[in-house]
Amino acid sequence: MTQTIAVIRGDGIGPEIMDATLQVLDAMDLGLTYDFVEAGLAAYENQGELLPSATIDAIHRHRVALKSPLTTPVGEGFSSINVELRKRFDLYANVRPAISFPNTKSRYENIDLITVRENTEGAYIGEGQNLTADGETATLIQRVTRRGSERIVRYAFDMARRIGRKKVTVVHKANILKSTSGLFLKVARQVAAEYPDIQCNEMIVDNTCMQLVMRPEQFDVIVTTNLFGDILSDLCAGLVGGLGMAPGANIGTEAAIFEAVHGSAPDIAGKGVANPVALLLGAIQMLEHLGKVEQAARLRQAIVDTMAAKDQLTPDLGGSGSTQSFAKAIAARAAG
Ligand SMILES: NC(=O)c1ccc[n+]([C@@H]2O[C@H](COP(=O)([O-])OP(=O)(O)OC[C@H]3O[C@@H](n4cnc5c(N)ncnc54)[C@H](O)[C@@H]3O)[C@@H](O)[C@H]2O)c1
Repeated sequence: MTQTIAVIRGDGIGPEIMDATLQVLDAMDLGLTYDFVEAGLAAYENQGELLPSATIDAIHRHRVALKSPLTTPVGEGFSSINVELRKRFDLYANVRPAISFPNTKSRYENIDLITVRENTEGAYIGEGQNLTADGETATLIQRVTRRGSERIVRYAFDMARRIGRKKVTVVHKANILKSTSGLFLKVARQVAAEYPDIQCNEMIVDNTCMQLVMRPEQFDVIVTTNLFGDILSDLCAGLVGGLGMAPGANIGTEAAIFEAVHGSAPDIAGKGVANPVALLLGAIQMLEHLGKVEQAARLRQAIVDTMAAKDQLTPDLGGSGSTQSFAKAIAARAAG
């Protein structure tokens, strides 16, 4: 069956890495067709809006989007398009894999973990931010709900089951933040009891940071609240060589958007040297989301093999290949 996805080619290096990624997907004959829509600077220049309604409609219709980085123009009145998309589609789960690949600047060679971060509530969204008139006291509401906690923990366990993961670690600070983190942990325990086939353990967030740095191989899937997830997922990206190897997915009940975590890299845009791997890893998440688990594994292996062979690596990985030649080398292995 053919599946249509919305494709946003993005700004800066966006079109280059998207073309490379689609070249690889096409070589795999996955039955995907693409509905190209615009957002970001390209949309603003061509249509006068950063997030045109045609783009929103396409994401609604197809429910799945692959998105290159966008440039939000600097200046008053321009709010982040990524935040806008998250709010508009209630994309409650931010899913960030951190996987070791050969020939990166990673400190470890055996990391394969996924952080599942709650994306819509908690301390991070800045609800009720206030500074008293004398500038002496600042407050912020930290709201955690049963509904929000339950759906993110359930997402983590369902995902683990779907893609063959064995263990979920619930990260919290319930010993101190007894109401908010306490509710999250209580709900997580209730949800975990419904998944006897998946091992569940609990870890306090500060200990998690230390354990991630010292023994990252013990983690499989991590599920946590918004602010802790924001910090932990970047820590995990650092463990596997930085944002150049980091994809992310924003998932809601109505839509899911898959992307690279890095930005539009204006300093190298148009030079044909951008590394397409982070967006390809986003595409792997998309294939898993679509139930194409075997094809996702094949693509991941093709990236591993290409990097191990140092075949056409882009300059950021120490090679002299181009975005296109690197993608071609990966496509040749993935097509097999
Ligand atoms: N998801 C998104 O849409 C997203 C995320 C972050 C930043 N941005 C936007 O991107 C623009 C640039 O931001 P920035 O410079 O702070 O961060 P950036 O991630 O674009 O670039 C940081 C550094 O990493 C390098 N880099 C990034 N991706 C690379 C790749 N695939 N291959 C090789 N090198 C790569 C760049 O050349 C640069 O030196 C800004 O307009 C920002 O708003 C968008």
